[in-house]
Amino acid sequence: MGWTLGEILAATGGKVIRPGESARYGEIVTDSKQVKRNSIFVALKGERHDAHRFVGDAVRRGAACVVIHRSLPKASLGNATTVKVGDTLRALGDLAHYRREKLAPKVLAITGSNGKTTSKEMVAAILAAGKLAGQPLRGRILKTEGNFNNLVGLPLTLLRLTKKHKVAVVELGTNSPGEIQRLAEIADPDLGMITSVAAAHLQGLKNLAGVAREKGSLYRAVRPSGMIAVNLDDPWVRRLGAKFAGKKLTYGSGGQLRARSLRVRDGQGMVFDLHHGRQQARIRLNYLGRHNVTNALGAAALSLGAGVNLAAVRRGLANAKPFTMRMQRESWRGIGVINDSYNANPGSMKAALETLALIGGRGKKIAVLGDMFELGAQSAKEHRELGRVAAQANIHQLYLLGAQAQQVRRGALRAGMKADQVIIGTDHRDIANRLRPQARRGDWLLIKGSRGMKMEKVLQELKGVQA
Ligand SMILES: Nc1ncnc2c1ncn2[C@@H]1O[C@H](COP(=O)(O)OP(=O)(O)O)[C@@H](O)[C@H]1O
Ligand SMILES: [Mg+2]
Repeated sequence: MGWTLGEILAATGGKVIRPGESARYGEIVTDSKQVKRNSIFVALKGERHDAHRFVGDAVRRGAACVVIHRSLPKASLGNATTVKVGDTLRALGDLAHYRREKLAPKVLAITGSNGKTTSKEMVAAILAAGKLAGQPLRGRILKTEGNFNNLVGLPLTLLRLTKKHKVAVVELGTNSPGEIQRLAEIADPDLGMITSVAAAHLQGLKNLAGVAREKGSLYRAVRPSGMIAVNLDDPWVRRLGAKFAGKKLTYGSGGQLRARSLRVRDGQGMVFDLHHGRQQARIRLNYLGRHNVTNALGAAALSLGAGVNLAAVRRGLANAKPFTMRMQRESWRGIGVINDSYNANPGSMKAALETLALIGGRGKKIAVLGDMFELGAQSAKEHRELGRVAAQANIHQLYLLGAQAQQVRRGALRAGMKADQVIIGTDHRDIANRLRPQARRGDWLLIKGSRGMKMEKVLQELKGVQA
């Protein structure tokens, strides 16, 4: 839908330091390779690259306007309109905010330590199965793609808004204080949800109170006329929710939305009865684990708050599916595999181990766990705690990889596992080689670790050798 120069200046408070030829510009891009004729190029300074270096390239590719915060030689600017701002990252957010306010879709924002992407996908699936004001929403929903949840990703998401969008479902992520506040300012949410407050990104956020303060910025930013979804099973979220003066929909035990008669469906997902006041619906999820039932309740609360009905919740949740490497059900030689190797922190490790324990059957439960990163000074302690959680979940065999493996082992042995149940591997292949002769048809295998641990390679090794 494009931009006028007046809009760019109004949004960013920038100054034209060189007028160009165009009066109307195309869409905003931050990657010079994606520049098309008439694009607006915003030069961001990232950790590794400063895109001010690529302004010349952007202009050659057709950029008609460039937004910069550092002076550049005239020659590189060609005939492009040049707008100078204090900080291009801030300007990108301001431009996204401007578009959000102009098009005014209903904005649903989700943050939390765990389950943001899952909840966001569930919400989008529910909305796609529902109607607002009698109109089907399918095709009129904008959602965060993948993990575009930071100060660059969120603006780029909102900048994709067009007139057809009635609702935007966005994920807000953080690893240092103040980020959620800024992201929420950009998104200006009508509805907000905090999935959980748990030990993650402690390097930046220090401790649980720090995490809670940071996530709490989302509820503080929700419009007073809006609504928040509150997870009563999380004591931190409950407390944050209590401070919100506007409308709320609570979920979890004692909440307005509750799950009853919860069970595992054929090792493929969960089934439960969703109760909301006097209404109820049988929900079938393609996701395993109690934590995903909680995510589904939250997604239902947020969607009902946005105005769709319970039938849409039921249909939408049945359609929603996990992404690769996030509690993804796979199999290998008749062994049920839960590939959750996308990422890990203490909360999601616990959820995954509890899921493994919840699955029925007589087979062994085997967990292959890699280190959890970004835990700062708490790291050793959290890894010992992980060992304890694994022991409590009655895991039969624990295969460990990483610098913290000894700590996990220590925690597991202290909590009652036997030395021969805990194996520390030297690399992915070593783990696969030691696991292969132990695993039998009917066993269950969980694979998980922080992204940098690339634990999916263990499964690739297992499958590769078999082929
Ligand atoms: N409510 C939850 N509590 C604990 N762990 C969860 C929860 N929801 C999802 N997880 C786990 O967290 C990991 C990441 O899930 P994802 O939905 O991508 O979260 P995020 O976007 O917050 O990183 C997966 O391992 C998933 O199984
Ligand atoms: Mg995510």
